[in-house]
Amino acid sequence: MNTENILALVDALLAIKKPVNSVLLEICKLLKKEVYHYDWVGFYILNHAENNLELGPYVGKPTEHTHIAVGKGVCGQVAASGRTMIVQDVSQMDNYIACSIDVQSEIVVPVLKEGKFVAEIDIDSHSPAPFTNNDKELLEAIAEKIAYLF
Ligand code: SME
Repeated sequence: MNTENILALVDALLAIKKPVNSVLLEICKLLKKEVYHYDWVGFYILNHAENNLELGPYVGKPTEHTHIAVGKGVCGQVAASGRTMIVQDVSQMDNYIACSIDVQSEIVVPVLKEGKFVAEIDIDSHSPAPFTNNDKELLEAIAEKIAYLF
């Protein structure tokens, strides 16, 4: 499915006005189903007081990384910078938290609300170097659409 169609489905999900976590879970399911190279799709949500990220809704193998400090791993770096990170080969990354030996690459996209980091979309792939600008554009567009939920 192309970017435009996925974004239209996201709009439809947001229009239903379900509880936030069920909307986020539906978005995870949609992305994993529609994009072949997305093997784990989840949200990490900023806990301001603790200065860490808490695992939110996700699809894929359970992870033990339910809390990640800001600055740690790819997820924590995106929380610190507020900028999308694409890691095409996780074995080349020093500040990386491994979730599964099957993961070869990762993209993490921040959700910014009024310019401030509030959450992120984290996607792991079992494919080597699969991410293009299309992934970045799709996920950044979704992040913008959902920012009001946080
Ligand atoms: N690989 C991430 C940790 C989260 S798991 O991918 C679910 C990182 O380096 O921050």
